[in-house]
Amino acid sequence: MSKLRLEGKVAIITGAASGIGEAAARLFAENGALVVIADIQDELGAQVVASIGPQKSCYRHCDVRDEKQVQETVDYALETYGSLDILFSNAGIIGPLGGILDLDMGEFDKTMAVNMRGAVIAIKHAGRAMVARQIRGSIICTASVTGCVAGAGPHAYTISKHALVGLVRTASCEFGKHGIRVNCISPFALATPMGDSANMEKSELEAMCCAASNLKGIVLRPPHLAEAALFLASDESAFISGHNLTVDGGFTVVNPSLGFYQ
Ligand SMILES: NC(=O)c1ccc[n+]([C@@H]2O[C@H](COP(=O)([O-])OP(=O)(O)OC[C@H]3O[C@@H](n4cnc5c(N)ncnc54)[C@H](O)[C@@H]3O)[C@@H](O)[C@H]2O)c1
Repeated sequence: MSKLRLEGKVAIITGAASGIGEAAARLFAENGALVVIADIQDELGAQVVASIGPQKSCYRHCDVRDEKQVQETVDYALETYGSLDILFSNAGIIGPLGGILDLDMGEFDKTMAVNMRGAVIAIKHAGRAMVARQIRGSIICTASVTGCVAGAGPHAYTISKHALVGLVRTASCEFGKHGIRVNCISPFALATPMGDSANMEKSELEAMCCAASNLKGIVLRPPHLAEAALFLASDESAFISGHNLTVDGGFTVVNPSLGFYQ
C-alpha cells in the first residue's frame, strides 16, 4: 500500500508563499498531492514552487479578498490538474493591534476581508467545483486559539477567527450531504512572518511563545500545523467534519490563573 497520504489529490492552499501555508504545501506535495500555491507574494510563491518542484506545484496570484481572482484560481486548478480535492484556506493577517476605543475601522474591515470574507469566498468557489464534480473533498481553514478565547490577540483578529470557527461549522452543515468535510486548525502562537510587526528576532518571538505555552519542551513551528492540516486533508480523518482541531498544547482548555499544578 502507498504511504503517500494524498496520492493523486489536487489542493489549493491560500497564503502558501510563507509560514504555515508554505509548510503545508511542502508536506502535501511530499504526500503525493499536486498543489496550487495561491498568494499575493509572487516572488516568494515562485520560490516555493521552485523548491517543491514545478511538476508537483504551481503558483497563482490570488488575493482572497477578490472573488474573481479566487474563482479564477479554482478554474486554474481544474484546468491544470483536472480536479480539486482539497482547499486549505489559510491566508490571514494580524490586523490592527490597538484597543476598540482607537480602532481604525478601515483596518478592521481589511482584517475581516482577508481572514473571514476571503475564507467564505474560497469555500464558495472550491465548494461549487467539488459539488458540481461530485468530489468528496476536504476543506480546511486556519483559525486560531483567538477563535476560542479572548485576550490572546488583537480585537479585529480575534473577531475574525471566532467568525471562521462559525463559518466552518455552518459550511460543514451544508456540505455534509455532498460528502464534503469542512474543518479548521487552530494554532497557538508561533514565529512566522506574520509576527514581523512585533519587531523581534525570530528567537525572541519563539521564546515569548514558549513562555506563554502550556506545553513545555517543544517549540511550535509551521510543520506541526502542516501535519494537522495533512491529517484533516487525508482519508485518515474520513468521518471528521465541523471540527476545530486546536494545535495549542492545551492552551485553550487550561486556565492557570489560580495556580494549581504550576
Ligand atoms: N503565526 C501565528 O502565531 C498564528 C497563530 C494562529 C493562527 N495563525 C494563522 O495562520 C495563518 C497563516 O499565517 P502564518 O503565521 O503562516 O503567517 P504568514 O504571514 O507567514 O503567512 C500568511 C500568508 O498569507 C498571505 N496573505 C495575506 N493576505 C492575503 C490575501 N489578501 N490574499 C492571499 N494571501 C494573503 C501572505 O502573503 C502570507 O504568505 C493565518 O490565517 C494566521 O492568522 C497564525
